[in-house]
Amino acid sequence: MNHNIVILGSQWGDEGKGKIVDFLTDKANAVVRFQGGHNAGHTLVINGEVTKLRLIPSGILHDGVMSFIGNGVVVSLEALSSEMNELLARGVPVFDRLRISEACPIVLPVHVALDNAREAALGDQKIGTTKRGIGPAYEDKVARRAIRIGDLRAPQNLKQKLKTLLNLHNFTLKEYYKVEDQFDVEETYQQLLEYAKTILPMINDVSAELNAIRKKGGKIIFEGAQGTLLDIDHGTYPYVTSSNTISGTVASGAGFGPCYLDAVIGITKAYTTRVGSGAYPTELDDEVGEHLGVKGCEFGTVTGRKRRTGWLDLVALRRAIEINSITSICLTKLDVLDGLKELKVCVAYELDGEQVEYPPYDNADYVRCTPVYEVLSGWEGESVFDKRKWNDLPAAARSYVGFVEKKLGISVDIVSTGPERSQNVIVKDVF
Ligand code: IMP
Repeated sequence: MNHNIVILGSQWGDEGKGKIVDFLTDKANAVVRFQGGHNAGHTLVINGEVTKLRLIPSGILHDGVMSFIGNGVVVSLEALSSEMNELLARGVPVFDRLRISEACPIVLPVHVALDNAREAALGDQKIGTTKRGIGPAYEDKVARRAIRIGDLRAPQNLKQKLKTLLNLHNFTLKEYYKVEDQFDVEETYQQLLEYAKTILPMINDVSAELNAIRKKGGKIIFEGAQGTLLDIDHGTYPYVTSSNTISGTVASGAGFGPCYLDAVIGITKAYTTRVGSGAYPTELDDEVGEHLGVKGCEFGTVTGRKRRTGWLDLVALRRAIEINSITSICLTKLDVLDGLKELKVCVAYELDGEQVEYPPYDNADYVRCTPVYEVLSGWEGESVFDKRKWNDLPAAARSYVGFVEKKLGISVDIVSTGPERSQNVIVKDVF
């Protein structure tokens, strides 16, 4: 039986992880975020009610389940507070259910200004970030000058650290980027102290708590944010996010050792989407792409940006399976393919006249890759929407799933057939 599982995106993010985490949380004792920040966006639909989460783990809506924000997450106190207030207003007992690592670096308003200034300076080379200050916050972490959640407990040291940090960033903004934004130490300090009043009671040693749950035989879900192809090391650098998004990050980002993990579920959309710049060989710029965008509601949860859309890419998926040690796939949004006459699946790339089976690490090479497709028939006239049993899926839909399994040598354990928590075909229980 699986106890500790990782659920992560195997593509470029927005695979529908939130819904699956939320649905599996019924059987879990804890849900943990281990990387990223409020650049993530999870939309949950429960009994028709939509909840959008950015920072707080998707398990928060469940009674008897603890939610943890691990040290690998960068935390905007502003975003956290507003998300908490929304949940509290709906009667969710956030203070009882949420714990935050004291080692989380804080995303400050100055990081947002730096993110904006950098993107503007890059012009048409811009990354297309979510402009939430995530990258600059991680930079401060690695430079060992970050303000961390635990610093809120020692106001005197906090003020000194803040002064050093803001002096540096104010200088960079003014002298290098030539922008107006400047950040006052006292004002930022007072804001942090105000947030500290609500945040401090939830601070905890997340690693110790998780291991205590493990020792008692509890079940833990580690909830990834973004997707594998946006990983800072293995993604389409530099068009990536600034954290490691892969399963190995559970160890560093939550303090939970790799040998304690039992399964890694790769959440995989039945087609692909991407937001922001960077290589995307199967991108569609036609009416099929439009169909996927409209029917799949492919607009960013965080930024509202229209997502780029394309066919399923098994080359990228092959890499994702291997670097994450994905044990099975959950194929989401299969219903979005309803109504399409034929379906293309990318099985290899062609680069400089040769077939390649793995995505290149260099974005300049990656953009020159062209997809090699196999064409499968769609299930036009039939629908997978709301189906709950494997045999109720149209034959062509079953073939599509079978094709993916065969080509990648992996099993598809869950097929998601609609946005509601209950709209799934469970082929095999993952817990
Ligand atoms: P950042 O994470 O805001 O620095 O943005 C870096 C890249 O990651 C951009 O291409 C973003 O669009 C992308 N990104 C960040 N978070 C998400 C997400 O949750 N889903 C999809 N793309 C994301």
